[in-house]
This record gives sequence, C-alpha cells and structure tokens, in this order.
Amino acid sequence: MYCTRKVTDTIWWVGGNDRRLALFENLFPIPRGVSYNSYVIMDEKTALMDTTDPSITPLFLANVAHTLNGRKLDYLIINHMEPDHCSNIEEIMHRYPEATLVCNAKVLQMIGQFYDLDLTGRTMIIKEGDTLSLGSHTLHFVAAPMVHWPEVMMVYEDSEKILFSADGFGSFGALNGNLFNDEVNFDRDWLDDARRYYTNIVGKYGVQVQAVLKKASGLDIQMICPLHGPVWRNNLGYILDKYVKWSTYEPEDKSVAIMYGSMYGNTERAADILATALSTAGVKDVRVYDISNTHVSELISEAFRCSHIVIASPTYNGGLYPVVESLLNDMKALNLQNRTFALIENGTWAATSNKHMRAIVETMKNMTILDTTVTVKSSVKEAQIETLQKLAKEIVDSLT
Ligand code: FEO
Repeated sequence: MYCTRKVTDTIWWVGGNDRRLALFENLFPIPRGVSYNSYVIMDEKTALMDTTDPSITPLFLANVAHTLNGRKLDYLIINHMEPDHCSNIEEIMHRYPEATLVCNAKVLQMIGQFYDLDLTGRTMIIKEGDTLSLGSHTLHFVAAPMVHWPEVMMVYEDSEKILFSADGFGSFGALNGNLFNDEVNFDRDWLDDARRYYTNIVGKYGVQVQAVLKKASGLDIQMICPLHGPVWRNNLGYILDKYVKWSTYEPEDKSVAIMYGSMYGNTERAADILATALSTAGVKDVRVYDISNTHVSELISEAFRCSHIVIASPTYNGGLYPVVESLLNDMKALNLQNRTFALIENGTWAATSNKHMRAIVETMKNMTILDTTVTVKSSVKEAQIETLQKLAKEIVDSLT
C-alpha cells in the first residue's frame, strides 16, 4: 500500500520512514528513526528524483507506481550514490523499461562499482550547468562535491524554484506525517538531530558546503527538498543561517559544554564543581557530559554548537582515557575549528593527560586553550577547588 504526500501541484514525496534501524551508517544512533525522501515530478515527462534505502523498497515502489498512475517513467535522476538512496536503481530501471537514467559521470562509475547493471543506451550523462526540460519544469544540475560524497549533484527546478538538495539540509528523524518544516516545531524537535546529522556526516567538508551555499545564493529558492527530514518551504533563512555557521565552524551559541571521562567519579566531581562555579557566576545552560555514556555523535554535535569546550580526562596507560582520545580525534577529523578549550587532568601516580589533550587540540585550526589547567591527583582537594574557581573565572571572562 502506498503512502505519498503532495509537495506542490505537480510534485509528490514518494519516500518513507525507517523507525527500526538502530544505527544510521551502522554508526549513529537514530532513536527518532530516519526518512528516506524521494520525489516524483509529473509533467509532459515524468521524473523520479533519487531512490531510497532497501529497508523501504516495497513502500517506495508502491508510492512511485501510485503517483505515476499508469504513466511511464521517463527519467530516473540520481544525485547521490550512497546506498541509503541508490539501492532501488536496478528495480526502478527494471520496472520502467523506458526510463533513462540521468546522472553525472562519477555517479555512473559508482553504479558500475555497486551493481552489475546493463544500462547500455539508457543513460544521459549530465554535468554542472546542464539543463533538462520536463515540459513546464526545467531541471538545472548543480555540482555539490563532498556534500556528502564526491559525485553529489543538486538539482534546481526553476519554474517552482525548488532546490533538490541531496543530503544537504537533511536530518535524522522519521517524518510523522508532517512533511514540511512549518508543520513541525523544528527548533524544539528537529534542530538537534539536524545538527547531529550535519556535523557528523558532512562536518568535515565545510569548505565544500560553503561553495554550494555560494552557488545557492545566486538562485531564487522558495523550497528545499532534501533526501532526509522535513522539506523547507518557508523561513529558509533559519536553516541557511545554521548551515553558514556549521560550515564555517562558527559556534551557534556562546555556551559551555563540559565533557569528562571518569573511571570512578573523581574526574566527574571536578567537572561538576566547575559547572557549579560557572553557573554561580551567571553562565546559563551549562552542559555536562559523561563521554563514556554519551554517543560521540552527540558530543560532536555539541562541540559544533558551543563556543567553549572543557575536556576532563584521567591519565590512562600513561596517555589519555581511550574515549577522550577518540572524541578529540573525531573532533579533529571533522575539522572542528574556532573554539575555546579548557583542560582538566587527573592521575594517581603521574598525571599526563593534559599534555596529551593539548597535543591533539593544538593540531586543530584556530583553537584557544585557556591558561588555567587543573591537575587532580586521584581526587579533588581544596587546592583543586581553588583552581577550578580560577578556571571558571577565566571561562566567564572569555565568554564576554
Ligand atoms: Fe543520505 Fe550520503 O546519504
């Protein structure tokens, strides 16, 4: 049975939701599920914009067939070859033998890598700047390399002023019937997942995202149709502003996230004392995270949101506590920049974690490490409370 939704008078959403998948890319927890969006444009010619993940194949095929309502499919347009979108290419090309697959050369190469599919005489290779007329709709192909893979194209449709943005402007989270951003409370219910999706999946490629934003700024865009999450049909400035901040690695908020590793609670105590001192000094919305018990994707998302990051780590095997080391390396891998760091170390016989944390942070771009560093020897004593108070003051001063 089908489940579709009208996007405009001539365009339908034909995607679906997966609420059973635990880990997106077998990495990222998605307790709110995820949607795989696909769109059909009905004109003199019909076009299907990308396919979906195999988990929703039966629904997707029913949606496409229902929407086409007996008409043939003229074009299958493939903008991105990650399997959460390309997994039904073979089935679509089989079911619609008159369809032409429209893609760029890199996409075609990847189709050959993923599948054994004879597309002889059934492809149309396009490149940046090319157009394809469907009748009253004209598709303009826009290269968007590394948003999120090198082959990615976006498509701008000029009669309805819609940007089909591939993974760009997408989000984790299943759609609950509400397809459009103005049908949900995005800021309350979606922003955290949109940030977590962007920062963990595309975060490394800020420069490339900025290049696409620059191209988009030259287009009159009234609607954004991504491959995951809500369709944007108003207040586009809100999500564009987020993308500008995330892609330029500017913090969204002047705020503090304290992320600690702690084996027996002593390093955690230092984190709590610092958080309390900050709050007493008037800092609002301080967040404290146990790195061992918070998924790294949430910590990365918070690191992109906050201006100030405090890392507290035990010394472990003469180096860093493994989850702390992994988190810092992930921040570096995702190109996090322009943050203020404060460091707290703990060690019972030789505290060296500050040195190791500093060594990683110093290799990242435009990071400030505050002067006050706190050394705990096994457990917090009065002397460390004083140093934590001093660190809190330094953080407060740097927040203003
Ligand atoms: Fe949603 Fe890069 O795939």
